Amino acid sequence: MLARASIVLVMLAAIFSKSVGADPLDAALGKALFDRQWIPAPSSTNGTDGLGPLFVSRSCAGCHAKGAGAHVVKREDGTDDIVGAVVRFGAKDGATDPYYGLELQTNAVPGLEPEGTARYLPKLQYNLNGPELGEGVRAGVRLAPPLVGKAAFEDVADVNIIERVVANARAGGPVRGRANVTDRGIGRYGWKASHVSLREQVGHAFAFDIGLSSPDFPLPYGDCTAKEAACLALPNGESPHFEGRELSSAMIGVVASFLKTLRSGPAQASDLFAGAGCAACHAPTLKTKDGREIAAFTDLLLHDMGPGLDDGVGEPGVRSSEWRTAPLIGININRDARRYLHDGSAESVEQAVERHGGEAEHSRILFEALTADDRKRLVEYVNGL
Ligand code: HEC
Ligand code: HEC
Repeated sequence: MLARASIVLVMLAAIFSKSVGADPLDAALGKALFDRQWIPAPSSTNGTDGLGPLFVSRSCAGCHAKGAGAHVVKREDGTDDIVGAVVRFGAKDGATDPYYGLELQTNAVPGLEPEGTARYLPKLQYNLNGPELGEGVRAGVRLAPPLVGKAAFEDVADVNIIERVVANARAGGPVRGRANVTDRGIGRYGWKASHVSLREQVGHAFAFDIGLSSPDFPLPYGDCTAKEAACLALPNGESPHFEGRELSSAMIGVVASFLKTLRSGPAQASDLFAGAGCAACHAPTLKTKDGREIAAFTDLLLHDMGPGLDDGVGEPGVRSSEWRTAPLIGININRDARRYLHDGSAESVEQAVERHGGEAEHSRILFEALTADDRKRLVEYVNGL
Protein backbone atom coordinates (compact mmCIF):
# COMPACT_ATOMS: atom_id res chain seq x y z
CA MET A 1 0.00 0.00 0.00
CA LEU A 2 2.72 2.35 1.09
CA ALA A 3 4.83 1.37 -1.91
CA ARG A 4 1.95 2.05 -4.26
CA ALA A 5 1.26 5.44 -2.67
CA SER A 6 4.87 6.44 -3.10
CA ILE A 7 4.87 5.34 -6.74
CA VAL A 8 1.85 7.57 -7.30
CA LEU A 9 3.68 10.40 -5.59
CA VAL A 10 6.73 9.92 -7.76
CA MET A 11 4.51 9.89 -10.86
CA LEU A 12 2.68 13.00 -9.71
CA ALA A 13 5.97 14.70 -9.07
CA ALA A 14 7.14 13.77 -12.55
CA ILE A 15 3.95 15.10 -14.16
CA PHE A 16 4.04 18.25 -12.07
CA SER A 17 7.65 18.94 -12.85
CA LYS A 18 6.98 18.44 -16.54
CA SER A 19 4.07 20.83 -16.53
CA VAL A 20 5.85 23.62 -14.67
CA GLY A 21 9.27 22.97 -16.17
CA ALA A 22 10.78 22.82 -12.71
CA ASP A 23 11.35 20.06 -10.20
CA PRO A 24 8.97 20.74 -7.27
CA LEU A 25 11.61 19.97 -4.66
CA ASP A 26 14.08 22.28 -6.40
CA ALA A 27 11.41 24.95 -6.62
CA ALA A 28 10.64 24.64 -2.89
CA LEU A 29 14.33 24.94 -2.03
CA GLY A 30 14.57 27.86 -4.43
CA LYS A 31 11.66 29.62 -2.76
CA ALA A 32 13.40 29.26 0.60
CA LEU A 33 16.55 30.89 -0.83
CA PHE A 34 14.44 33.58 -2.51
CA ASP A 35 12.78 34.46 0.82
CA ARG A 36 15.89 33.98 2.99
CA GLN A 37 17.14 36.98 4.93
CA TRP A 38 20.90 36.71 4.47
CA ILE A 39 23.23 37.64 7.33
CA PRO A 40 26.79 38.96 7.45
CA ALA A 41 29.80 36.59 7.46
CA PRO A 42 31.12 34.94 9.47
CA SER A 43 28.21 33.28 11.23
CA SER A 44 27.79 29.95 13.00
CA THR A 45 25.01 28.91 10.63
CA ASN A 46 27.10 28.21 7.56
CA GLY A 47 25.08 28.66 4.40
CA THR A 48 23.06 31.71 5.37
CA ASP A 49 25.93 34.18 5.56
CA GLY A 50 27.87 36.28 3.11
CA LEU A 51 25.51 39.28 2.98
CA GLY A 52 27.14 42.43 1.61
CA PRO A 53 29.34 43.92 2.98
CA LEU A 54 27.44 46.57 1.00
CA PHE A 55 23.94 45.63 -0.11
CA VAL A 56 20.62 47.07 -1.18
CA SER A 57 18.36 44.40 0.34
CA ARG A 58 18.85 41.27 2.48
CA SER A 59 16.67 39.08 0.28
CA CYS A 60 15.17 38.69 -3.18
CA ALA A 61 11.76 38.96 -1.54
CA GLY A 62 12.79 42.34 -0.13
CA CYS A 63 12.29 43.77 -3.63
CA HIS A 64 10.11 41.08 -5.24
CA ALA A 65 7.76 40.11 -2.38
CA LYS A 66 5.71 37.07 -3.44
CA GLY A 67 7.19 37.35 -6.93
CA ALA A 68 5.80 40.87 -7.45
CA GLY A 69 7.90 43.94 -8.09
CA ALA A 70 8.49 47.40 -6.66
CA HIS A 71 5.56 48.95 -4.83
CA VAL A 72 4.52 52.11 -3.04
CA VAL A 73 4.64 52.22 0.77
CA LYS A 74 3.98 54.90 3.42
CA ARG A 75 7.10 56.16 5.16
CA GLU A 76 7.03 56.94 8.89
CA ASP A 77 6.61 60.65 8.08
CA GLY A 78 3.39 59.85 6.19
CA THR A 79 4.81 60.42 2.71
CA ASP A 80 4.85 57.84 -0.10
CA ASP A 81 7.96 56.11 -1.33
CA ILE A 82 8.88 53.05 -3.40
CA VAL A 83 10.24 49.78 -2.01
CA GLY A 84 12.04 47.51 -4.46
CA ALA A 85 13.87 50.05 -6.58
CA VAL A 86 17.58 50.70 -7.07
CA VAL A 87 19.65 53.68 -8.11
CA ARG A 88 21.71 52.58 -11.11
CA PHE A 89 24.92 54.40 -12.07
CA GLY A 90 26.19 54.62 -15.62
CA ALA A 91 27.66 56.86 -18.28
CA LYS A 92 26.34 57.09 -21.84
CA ASP A 93 28.73 54.32 -22.92
CA GLY A 94 27.68 52.04 -20.08
CA ALA A 95 30.73 52.58 -17.86
CA THR A 96 29.78 52.30 -14.18
CA ASP A 97 30.93 54.66 -11.43
CA PRO A 98 34.64 54.31 -10.55
CA TYR A 99 33.90 54.61 -6.82
CA TYR A 100 30.32 53.37 -6.25
CA GLY A 101 30.16 50.77 -9.02
CA LEU A 102 26.87 49.69 -10.57
CA GLU A 103 24.30 50.62 -7.95
CA LEU A 104 23.91 52.83 -4.90
CA GLN A 105 24.24 50.41 -1.99
CA THR A 106 21.92 51.88 0.62
CA ASN A 107 22.71 49.31 3.33
CA ALA A 108 25.85 47.84 4.88
CA VAL A 109 26.83 45.25 7.48
CA PRO A 110 27.53 46.56 11.03
CA GLY A 111 30.69 48.66 11.18
CA LEU A 112 30.53 49.82 7.56
CA GLU A 113 28.86 52.95 6.24
CA PRO A 114 26.36 52.51 3.37
CA GLU A 115 27.17 54.37 0.15
CA GLY A 116 24.26 56.71 0.64
CA THR A 117 20.49 57.06 0.93
CA ALA A 118 17.76 57.33 -1.69
CA ARG A 119 14.13 58.36 -1.96
CA TYR A 120 12.19 57.63 -5.13
CA LEU A 121 9.01 59.70 -4.73
CA PRO A 122 7.92 62.21 -5.77
CA LYS A 123 11.14 61.85 -7.78
CA LEU A 124 14.63 60.51 -7.22
CA GLN A 125 16.62 62.24 -4.48
CA TYR A 126 19.81 60.68 -3.22
CA ASN A 127 22.76 61.53 -0.97
CA LEU A 128 26.24 60.09 -1.32
CA ASN A 129 28.43 59.31 1.69
CA GLY A 130 31.57 59.40 -0.48
CA PRO A 131 32.91 61.43 -3.41
CA GLU A 132 30.83 62.95 -6.22
CA LEU A 133 29.94 60.65 -9.12
CA GLY A 134 32.67 60.13 -11.74
CA GLU A 135 32.81 62.26 -14.87
CA GLY A 136 29.86 61.63 -17.18
CA VAL A 137 28.23 59.17 -14.76
CA ARG A 138 24.50 59.66 -14.19
CA ALA A 139 22.07 58.10 -11.73
CA GLY A 140 18.83 56.48 -12.89
CA VAL A 141 16.00 54.64 -11.16
CA ARG A 142 15.25 50.98 -11.95
CA LEU A 143 12.11 49.45 -10.47
CA ALA A 144 12.05 45.74 -9.67
CA PRO A 145 9.69 44.23 -12.26
CA PRO A 146 7.13 41.59 -11.27
CA LEU A 147 8.48 38.08 -11.99
CA VAL A 148 5.30 36.23 -12.95
CA GLY A 149 5.48 34.75 -16.45
CA LYS A 150 9.07 35.86 -17.04
CA ALA A 151 10.87 32.52 -16.69
CA ALA A 152 9.78 31.31 -20.13
CA PHE A 153 11.56 34.21 -21.85
CA GLU A 154 14.80 32.26 -21.75
CA ASP A 155 13.11 29.52 -23.81
CA VAL A 156 12.05 31.88 -26.60
CA ALA A 157 13.74 30.91 -29.85
CA ASP A 158 16.37 33.39 -31.06
CA VAL A 159 14.92 33.11 -34.54
CA ASN A 160 11.51 34.26 -33.26
CA ILE A 161 13.12 37.39 -31.80
CA ILE A 162 15.15 38.15 -34.93
CA GLU A 163 12.17 37.55 -37.24
CA ARG A 164 10.40 40.48 -35.66
CA VAL A 165 13.38 42.77 -36.27
CA VAL A 166 13.36 41.76 -39.94
CA ALA A 167 9.57 42.16 -40.22
CA ASN A 168 9.73 45.64 -38.66
CA ALA A 169 12.48 46.72 -41.04
CA ARG A 170 10.51 45.40 -44.04
CA ALA A 171 7.35 47.19 -42.90
CA GLY A 172 9.33 50.43 -42.87
CA GLY A 173 7.11 51.94 -40.15
CA PRO A 174 8.16 53.83 -37.04
CA VAL A 175 8.61 50.65 -34.98
CA ARG A 176 12.07 49.17 -35.47
CA GLY A 177 13.67 47.53 -32.43
CA ARG A 178 16.80 45.48 -32.15
CA ALA A 179 17.89 42.48 -30.13
CA ASN A 180 20.52 43.03 -27.44
CA VAL A 181 23.07 40.62 -28.89
CA THR A 182 25.76 39.90 -26.28
CA ASP A 183 28.69 37.49 -26.38
CA ARG A 184 26.55 35.17 -24.22
CA GLY A 185 23.50 35.22 -26.50
CA ILE A 186 20.43 37.46 -26.97
CA GLY A 187 19.53 39.38 -23.80
CA ARG A 188 16.01 38.93 -22.45
CA TYR A 189 15.93 40.04 -18.83
CA GLY A 190 15.99 43.48 -17.24
CA TRP A 191 14.81 46.90 -18.47
CA LYS A 192 17.55 46.86 -21.09
CA ALA A 193 17.46 43.13 -21.88
CA SER A 194 20.96 42.80 -20.44
CA HIS A 195 20.77 39.24 -19.14
CA VAL A 196 20.46 36.23 -21.40
CA SER A 197 19.16 33.63 -18.94
CA LEU A 198 17.44 33.23 -15.60
CA ARG A 199 20.65 31.86 -14.08
CA GLU A 200 22.56 34.91 -15.21
CA GLN A 201 19.89 37.30 -13.91
CA VAL A 202 19.68 35.46 -10.56
CA GLY A 203 23.48 35.31 -10.11
CA HIS A 204 23.72 39.00 -10.97
CA ALA A 205 20.99 39.92 -8.46
CA PHE A 206 22.66 37.93 -5.69
CA ALA A 207 26.01 39.61 -6.40
CA PHE A 208 24.92 43.22 -6.93
CA ASP A 209 21.73 43.61 -4.88
CA ILE A 210 22.55 41.33 -1.92
CA GLY A 211 26.34 40.96 -2.06
CA LEU A 212 26.64 37.16 -2.48
CA SER A 213 29.14 35.55 -4.84
CA SER A 214 28.56 32.46 -7.01
CA PRO A 215 30.68 30.65 -9.64
CA ASP A 216 29.52 32.88 -12.54
CA PHE A 217 29.74 36.05 -10.41
CA PRO A 218 32.87 35.52 -8.27
CA LEU A 219 32.34 38.78 -6.35
CA PRO A 220 32.41 38.09 -2.58
CA TYR A 221 32.28 41.85 -2.00
CA GLY A 222 29.36 42.33 -4.35
CA ASP A 223 29.30 45.82 -5.83
CA CYS A 224 32.26 47.14 -3.73
CA THR A 225 34.87 48.64 -6.07
CA ALA A 226 38.65 48.57 -5.62
CA LYS A 227 38.36 52.12 -4.22
CA GLU A 228 36.08 51.03 -1.36
CA ALA A 229 38.86 49.79 0.90
CA ALA A 230 36.79 49.61 4.11
CA CYS A 231 34.37 47.22 2.39
CA LEU A 232 37.14 45.02 1.01
CA ALA A 233 38.76 44.72 4.45
CA LEU A 234 35.73 42.86 5.93
CA PRO A 235 35.34 39.07 6.07
CA ASN A 236 33.35 37.31 3.35
CA GLY A 237 31.30 34.11 3.41
CA GLU A 238 33.08 32.09 0.72
CA SER A 239 33.19 28.42 1.60
CA PRO A 240 34.55 25.16 0.12
CA HIS A 241 31.01 23.76 0.57
CA PHE A 242 29.75 26.09 -2.16
CA GLU A 243 32.36 25.65 -4.89
CA GLY A 244 34.56 28.16 -3.10
CA ARG A 245 31.88 30.86 -3.30
CA GLU A 246 29.10 32.15 -1.06
CA LEU A 247 26.53 30.31 -3.20
CA SER A 248 27.01 27.21 -5.38
CA SER A 249 25.73 26.97 -8.94
CA ALA A 250 23.14 24.44 -7.70
CA MET A 251 21.75 27.12 -5.36
CA ILE A 252 21.44 29.57 -8.28
CA GLY A 253 19.73 26.77 -10.23
CA VAL A 254 17.05 26.11 -7.61
CA VAL A 255 16.17 29.81 -7.42
CA ALA A 256 15.73 29.75 -11.21
CA SER A 257 13.49 26.67 -10.74
CA PHE A 258 11.36 28.58 -8.26
CA LEU A 259 10.92 31.44 -10.76
CA LYS A 260 9.58 28.88 -13.27
CA THR A 261 6.64 28.21 -10.95
CA LEU A 262 5.51 31.87 -11.14
CA ARG A 263 3.37 31.37 -14.21
CA SER A 264 0.93 33.66 -15.98
CA GLY A 265 -2.40 32.87 -17.59
CA PRO A 266 -2.90 32.60 -21.38
CA ALA A 267 -2.80 35.74 -23.55
CA GLN A 268 -6.16 37.18 -24.71
CA ALA A 269 -6.04 39.15 -27.93
CA SER A 270 -7.64 42.60 -28.30
CA ASP A 271 -8.43 44.50 -31.50
CA LEU A 272 -8.14 47.83 -29.74
CA PHE A 273 -4.66 46.93 -28.47
CA ALA A 274 -3.51 45.87 -31.91
CA GLY A 275 -5.30 48.79 -33.61
CA ALA A 276 -3.51 51.37 -31.47
CA GLY A 277 -0.18 49.88 -32.49
CA CYS A 278 0.60 48.50 -29.02
CA ALA A 279 1.00 44.89 -30.20
CA ALA A 280 3.75 45.92 -32.64
CA CYS A 281 6.04 46.00 -29.60
CA HIS A 282 4.00 44.39 -26.82
CA ALA A 283 3.61 41.14 -28.80
CA PRO A 284 0.90 39.10 -27.02
CA THR A 285 2.72 35.79 -27.54
CA LEU A 286 6.19 34.51 -28.39
CA LYS A 287 7.27 31.05 -29.52
CA THR A 288 9.68 28.87 -27.60
CA LYS A 289 12.39 26.65 -29.07
CA ASP A 290 10.12 23.64 -28.59
CA GLY A 291 7.19 25.31 -30.34
CA ARG A 292 5.10 26.42 -27.34
CA GLU A 293 3.34 29.78 -27.42
CA ILE A 294 3.86 31.78 -24.26
CA ALA A 295 2.05 34.91 -23.10
CA ALA A 296 4.57 37.73 -23.22
CA PHE A 297 3.24 41.16 -24.30
CA THR A 298 6.80 42.01 -25.26
CA ASP A 299 9.00 41.40 -28.30
CA LEU A 300 12.09 41.31 -26.05
CA LEU A 301 13.56 43.98 -28.35
CA LEU A 302 15.16 47.30 -27.48
CA HIS A 303 13.34 50.38 -28.77
CA ASP A 304 14.38 54.01 -28.76
CA MET A 305 11.66 55.58 -26.61
CA GLY A 306 12.70 59.19 -27.17
CA PRO A 307 14.24 61.91 -24.98
CA GLY A 308 11.45 61.82 -22.35
CA LEU A 309 12.53 58.37 -21.16
CA ASP A 310 16.26 58.93 -21.64
CA ASP A 311 17.92 59.15 -18.20
CA GLY A 312 21.49 59.32 -19.54
CA VAL A 313 22.40 55.94 -17.99
CA GLY A 314 23.63 53.61 -20.72
CA GLU A 315 24.70 49.98 -20.49
CA PRO A 316 27.43 48.36 -22.58
CA GLY A 317 25.98 48.20 -26.10
CA VAL A 318 22.63 49.75 -25.09
CA ARG A 319 21.91 53.47 -25.35
CA SER A 320 20.31 55.38 -22.52
CA SER A 321 17.19 56.05 -24.63
CA GLU A 322 16.70 52.36 -25.46
CA TRP A 323 14.47 50.06 -23.42
CA ARG A 324 13.24 46.51 -23.76
CA THR A 325 9.50 46.55 -24.45
CA ALA A 326 8.15 46.17 -20.92
CA PRO A 327 6.34 42.80 -20.73
CA LEU A 328 2.74 43.55 -19.74
CA ILE A 329 2.01 40.08 -18.39
CA GLY A 330 1.29 40.24 -14.70
CA ILE A 331 0.85 44.01 -14.88
CA ASN A 332 -2.17 43.79 -12.56
CA ILE A 333 -0.19 42.21 -9.72
CA ASN A 334 -0.25 44.41 -6.63
CA ARG A 335 -2.07 47.01 -8.70
CA ASP A 336 -3.12 49.32 -5.88
CA ALA A 337 0.51 49.96 -5.02
CA ARG A 338 2.03 49.79 -8.50
CA ARG A 339 4.06 52.31 -10.44
CA TYR A 340 4.89 52.01 -14.11
CA LEU A 341 7.90 52.47 -16.41
CA HIS A 342 11.53 51.82 -15.50
CA ASP A 343 11.62 54.73 -13.07
CA GLY A 344 8.09 54.56 -11.65
CA SER A 345 7.26 57.95 -13.15
CA ALA A 346 3.79 56.79 -14.25
CA GLU A 347 0.99 56.17 -11.75
CA SER A 348 -1.32 54.45 -14.24
CA VAL A 349 -1.37 52.71 -17.61
CA GLU A 350 -2.63 55.96 -19.22
CA GLN A 351 0.29 57.91 -17.80
CA ALA A 352 2.71 55.23 -18.97
CA VAL A 353 1.37 55.53 -22.53
CA GLU A 354 1.51 59.34 -22.36
CA ARG A 355 5.25 59.04 -21.82
CA HIS A 356 5.79 56.81 -24.89
CA GLY A 357 7.90 58.71 -27.47
CA GLY A 358 10.47 57.83 -30.12
CA GLU A 359 9.49 54.61 -31.90
CA ALA A 360 6.22 54.54 -29.92
CA GLU A 361 5.18 58.13 -30.63
CA HIS A 362 2.72 57.18 -33.39
CA SER A 363 1.13 54.59 -31.10
CA ARG A 364 0.66 57.17 -28.36
CA ILE A 365 -1.03 59.46 -30.89
CA LEU A 366 -3.37 56.62 -31.95
CA PHE A 367 -4.16 55.97 -28.28
CA GLU A 368 -4.95 59.63 -27.66
CA ALA A 369 -7.18 59.71 -30.76
CA LEU A 370 -9.42 56.90 -29.45
CA THR A 371 -12.86 57.83 -28.14
CA ALA A 372 -12.96 58.14 -24.35
CA ASP A 373 -14.92 54.87 -24.20
CA ASP A 374 -12.43 52.94 -26.32
CA ARG A 375 -9.51 54.35 -24.37
CA LYS A 376 -11.15 53.16 -21.17
CA ARG A 377 -11.73 49.69 -22.64
CA LEU A 378 -8.14 49.48 -23.82
CA VAL A 379 -6.81 50.48 -20.40
CA GLU A 380 -9.11 47.95 -18.71
CA TYR A 381 -7.81 45.27 -21.05
CA VAL A 382 -4.17 46.13 -20.23
CA ASN A 383 -4.93 46.25 -16.51
CA GLY A 384 -6.34 42.75 -16.75
CA LEU A 385 -3.28 41.13 -18.35
C1 HEC B 1 17.27 45.78 -4.31
C2 HEC B 1 16.12 45.26 -5.02
C3 HEC B 1 16.25 43.93 -5.69
C4 HEC B 1 16.64 42.72 -5.15
C5 HEC B 1 17.11 42.44 -3.74
C6 HEC B 1 16.48 41.74 -6.20
N1 HEC B 1 16.02 42.33 -7.33
FE1 HEC B 1 15.51 41.38 -9.04
N2 HEC B 1 15.31 43.15 -9.96
C7 HEC B 1 15.45 44.38 -9.35
C8 HEC B 1 15.52 45.42 -10.36
C9 HEC B 1 15.69 46.92 -10.10
C10 HEC B 1 15.44 44.77 -11.61
C11 HEC B 1 15.57 45.42 -12.98
C12 HEC B 1 17.07 45.61 -13.17
C13 HEC B 1 17.48 46.27 -14.44
O1 HEC B 1 16.87 46.06 -15.46
O2 HEC B 1 18.48 47.01 -14.42
C14 HEC B 1 15.29 43.34 -11.31
C15 HEC B 1 15.12 42.35 -12.29
C16 HEC B 1 14.93 41.01 -12.00
C17 HEC B 1 14.55 40.00 -12.96
C18 HEC B 1 14.25 40.23 -14.45
C19 HEC B 1 12.80 40.58 -14.64
C20 HEC B 1 12.46 41.00 -16.04
O3 HEC B 1 11.39 41.58 -16.24
O4 HEC B 1 13.26 40.78 -16.96
C21 HEC B 1 14.51 38.80 -12.30
C22 HEC B 1 14.16 37.45 -12.88
C23 HEC B 1 14.88 39.08 -10.93
N3 HEC B 1 15.10 40.43 -10.78
C24 HEC B 1 15.01 38.12 -9.93
C25 HEC B 1 15.61 38.38 -8.69
C26 HEC B 1 16.08 37.36 -7.78
C27 HEC B 1 15.97 35.86 -7.99
C28 HEC B 1 16.61 38.00 -6.70
C29 HEC B 1 17.35 37.42 -5.53
C30 HEC B 1 18.58 36.73 -5.86
C31 HEC B 1 16.44 39.43 -6.95
N4 HEC B 1 15.85 39.61 -8.16
C32 HEC B 1 16.80 40.40 -6.05
C33 HEC B 1 15.51 44.62 -8.00
C34 HEC B 1 15.90 43.67 -7.08
C1 HEC C 1 7.81 51.08 -30.02
C2 HEC C 1 7.43 50.05 -29.07
C3 HEC C 1 6.22 50.30 -28.19
C4 HEC C 1 4.92 50.59 -28.55
C5 HEC C 1 4.35 50.78 -29.95
C6 HEC C 1 4.16 50.64 -27.31
N1 HEC C 1 4.99 50.41 -26.24
FE1 HEC C 1 4.44 50.35 -24.30
N2 HEC C 1 6.39 50.19 -23.74
C7 HEC C 1 7.46 50.08 -24.60
C8 HEC C 1 8.69 50.16 -23.86
C9 HEC C 1 10.09 50.07 -24.44
C10 HEC C 1 8.34 50.32 -22.52
C11 HEC C 1 9.29 50.51 -21.33
C12 HEC C 1 9.65 52.00 -21.29
C13 HEC C 1 10.31 52.46 -20.01
O1 HEC C 1 10.11 51.88 -18.94
O2 HEC C 1 11.02 53.48 -20.07
C14 HEC C 1 6.89 50.31 -22.47
C15 HEC C 1 6.12 50.40 -21.30
C16 HEC C 1 4.74 50.31 -21.27
C17 HEC C 1 3.96 50.26 -20.06
C18 HEC C 1 4.51 50.24 -18.63
C19 HEC C 1 4.78 48.81 -18.22
C20 HEC C 1 5.47 48.64 -16.91
O3 HEC C 1 5.71 47.48 -16.53
O4 HEC C 1 5.81 49.62 -16.23
C21 HEC C 1 2.65 50.17 -20.42
C22 HEC C 1 1.45 50.08 -19.50
C23 HEC C 1 2.61 50.20 -21.86
N3 HEC C 1 3.91 50.28 -22.34
C24 HEC C 1 1.46 50.14 -22.62
C25 HEC C 1 1.43 50.38 -23.98
C26 HEC C 1 0.19 50.55 -24.74
C27 HEC C 1 -1.20 50.46 -24.16
C28 HEC C 1 0.57 50.79 -26.03
C29 HEC C 1 -0.30 51.13 -27.19
C30 HEC C 1 -1.10 52.33 -27.05
C31 HEC C 1 2.03 50.75 -26.08
N4 HEC C 1 2.50 50.51 -24.83
C32 HEC C 1 2.80 50.90 -27.23
C33 HEC C 1 7.39 49.94 -25.98
C34 HEC C 1 6.25 50.20 -26.74
